[in-house]
Amino acid sequence: MCGIVGILGATPVAPLVIDALKRLEYRGYDSAGIATLEEGCLTRRRAEGKLRNLEARLSEAPLKGLSGIGHTRWATHGKPTEGNAHPHATDRLAVVHNGIIENFRELREELVADGAHFDSETDTEVVAHLVTREMRRSNDPVTAVAAALPRLHGAFALAFLFEGHDDLIIGARRGAPLAVGYGEGEMYLGSDALALAPFTDTIAYLEEGDWVVLSRGGAEFHDKDGAIVAREAHKTQAGAFLVDKGNHRHFMAKEIHEQPEVIGRTLSHYLDMANGTVRLPVDMPFDWTKIDRISICACGTAYLAGIIAKYWFERLARVLVEVDVASEFRYREAPLPKGQLAIFVSQSGETADTLASLRYTRQMGQHVLSVVNVQSSTIARESDVVTPTLAGPEIGVASTKAFTCQLAVLAVLAIAAARARGHIDEAREKELVRELVSMPGLVAESLKLEPGIESLAYELRKASDVLYLGRGTSYPMALEGALKLKEISYIHAEGYAAGELKHGPIALIDEEMPVIVLAPADAWFEKTVSNVQEVAARGGRIVLIGPEGAAGRAGVEALAEVAMPAMPETFAPIAYAVPVQLIAYHTALSMGKDVDQPRNLAKSVTVE
Ligand code: AGP
Repeated sequence: MCGIVGILGATPVAPLVIDALKRLEYRGYDSAGIATLEEGCLTRRRAEGKLRNLEARLSEAPLKGLSGIGHTRWATHGKPTEGNAHPHATDRLAVVHNGIIENFRELREELVADGAHFDSETDTEVVAHLVTREMRRSNDPVTAVAAALPRLHGAFALAFLFEGHDDLIIGARRGAPLAVGYGEGEMYLGSDALALAPFTDTIAYLEEGDWVVLSRGGAEFHDKDGAIVAREAHKTQAGAFLVDKGNHRHFMAKEIHEQPEVIGRTLSHYLDMANGTVRLPVDMPFDWTKIDRISICACGTAYLAGIIAKYWFERLARVLVEVDVASEFRYREAPLPKGQLAIFVSQSGETADTLASLRYTRQMGQHVLSVVNVQSSTIARESDVVTPTLAGPEIGVASTKAFTCQLAVLAVLAIAAARARGHIDEAREKELVRELVSMPGLVAESLKLEPGIESLAYELRKASDVLYLGRGTSYPMALEGALKLKEISYIHAEGYAAGELKHGPIALIDEEMPVIVLAPADAWFEKTVSNVQEVAARGGRIVLIGPEGAAGRAGVEALAEVAMPAMPETFAPIAYAVPVQLIAYHTALSMGKDVDQPRNLAKSVTVE
């Protein structure tokens, strides 16, 4: 994930920017850069590799400006070269960016047609030229940024510095966090409070869709419609974890809201965004065409990611997949034919049952691939190949962003397998990649449903039992919703295949028990609607999570309807994870439970 810093200083800012960037190194990066105003003129220094290379560049050619922006880049579009390092600049401005501009190709074509000259392969440079074009129209930075932002699709955080404006930095946030820091006669902008900790502990976070105009006198926040809004500043806890909670009450809330950014970052690690195809960063040590059978093994939420992946691998790559909970698999002595593929999914990479299962499959001559969030973990070290999630540290015990990043990686692998096995052509691959790249933005849209879910939680908190239903890839998501709810609110919850309702669980339906139904507009929608009607006919209290108007189409009165944004069906689970996470979070919160550290649970189960 990239790191962003901006400083309007009372002294030369270059050393301060470097100091702040060092506190963002934990995010991972492969190049860095800074831009300052030297007597009003934009001047840049950029370098490939670590910050010490940028510092060397600065000692050769110091910068003395009192206003500056800086960036640590984690390469997405374009190689980690100096030419692709941020800030990207034109004659009018410099910009640094964290995230993905989904529609950068069409914008680049439009801007080139308008005469813009591009120096890099990045999506970010499109932003520089887009705002510059607006500057030529209005000659006003605030107007220019306000006019350009709506043209950008995707999840991103941005910071701008303008030629000739040494008391101005503009920041914008959509799906990736950005914080404003208040100093004595100085003002700061950063990706998180940690970056600004050397200068201030008084922080205000931009909210989704906000942009902010900084001067040394303060910050003027605007919402996505441009209206001036108030964003409360608060003191950050000094000595917090390497990562802080941001402006959230809990790590779980922060991690739920980080999903647009970290899913985008994970996807960009596996996709050739310029070409719109999959580009695995590592060669698979096996031939997909020789794989007739995939074993997926994991625990808890990671196991449920594996079940969702089963549908994708079987439908797209036409390969048989078996998914097991690791605690069962490790003793099952499955007679696996040699030379097949075993995939292990684990946030921590240390789960004992998953590790034991991995070791069994190695004995059985399987190719071992792991999807882990901690790349230095034991499971990673014992795998033949690792395809990591780039979710960043997940502190909340209930897994959220790691889960959706696991889905993102597994989706990429299913597309890669499908293409390698000749079941999809390049056109279909590009179509699937486009759908996948739209998911971070759809997750950001789904997060806007939080207020309605928060009020629903006050109904659910009264329940002693909750039933989740789903079909197809919504069936494992029903299991995940039940797991999330029970592990942090302690309300008993069960997930069931909706088609199984008639085979027993329908006996549970009464006016007391909430039934939460996941019904995305997919191939199983109509069948799921019939199940909703069966529940309604018995007085069930239905919570319907689906497209706008789903309850009306089902002809039922729902206790609540969570109207999800319209989306392509294949990878809908990545967005449908959001409401089930928020339902669990707000229900537990309304009950006063310890959301981040639920009773009896550990973040990583390193024992049997
Ligand atoms: C998920 O919310 C739980 N915290 C738990 O089920 C977790 O997914 C499981 O213990 C697996 O952990 P891992 O991903 O680190 O292997």
